[in-house]
Amino acid sequence: MLIGLVLGIVMAASHDHALSPVHVHTNLLGWATLALTGLLYTVIPAMADNRFARLHFWLHALGLPVMMAALAAYALGHTAMEPVIAVGAIAVTAGLAFFTVNLFRTL
Ligand code: HEM
Ligand code: HEM
Repeated sequence: MLIGLVLGIVMAASHDHALSPVHVHTNLLGWATLALTGLLYTVIPAMADNRFARLHFWLHALGLPVMMAALAAYALGHTAMEPVIAVGAIAVTAGLAFFTVNLFRTL
């Protein structure tokens, strides 16, 4: 969240919005989505202590920094980083798929 907010201020101050997709997804896929899933683990404790939750946690926590770093490099002109963005994005999406399955199994 703090990285996303500081990036927003830097973009606003510099009038350089090249890193806007990094700002968007750090805030929304990082802070907002991660916080919402975390709240659900708290509200529905039966969801929190199983292998689906652990798989979600690690895939989200490891995939997102990879996706964001590669997206930043891509947005700054390093287009060869595109496959790395995909690896991070697929990891995060797989993590959130485990979260979704876990939610429905628990309910
Ligand atoms: C200190 C707080 C923030 C600042 C200074 C800031 C600044 C900015 C700036 C400069 C842009 C680029 C606008 C453009 O290119 O037209 C932007 C876009 C965006 N920001 Fe933030 N932001 C902040 C917080 C947040 C938060 C907390 C979220 C979401 C939880 C968020 C979501 C977005 C989204 C979705 C866009 C893309 C909007 C679009 O492309 O139309 N921002 N922000
Ligand atoms: C692995 C997951 C995700 C992938 C691969 C992804 C991919 C993308 C792509 C390719 C774009 C278009 C970027 C552009 O036009 O420059 C985009 C835009 C956007 N995404 Fe995502 N996204 C993901 C997750 C999310 C989530 C979870 C949210 C919200 C909670 C979200 C919110 C947005 C918003 C608001 C925009 C528009 C930003 C803008 O106009 O600058 N995304 N996303």
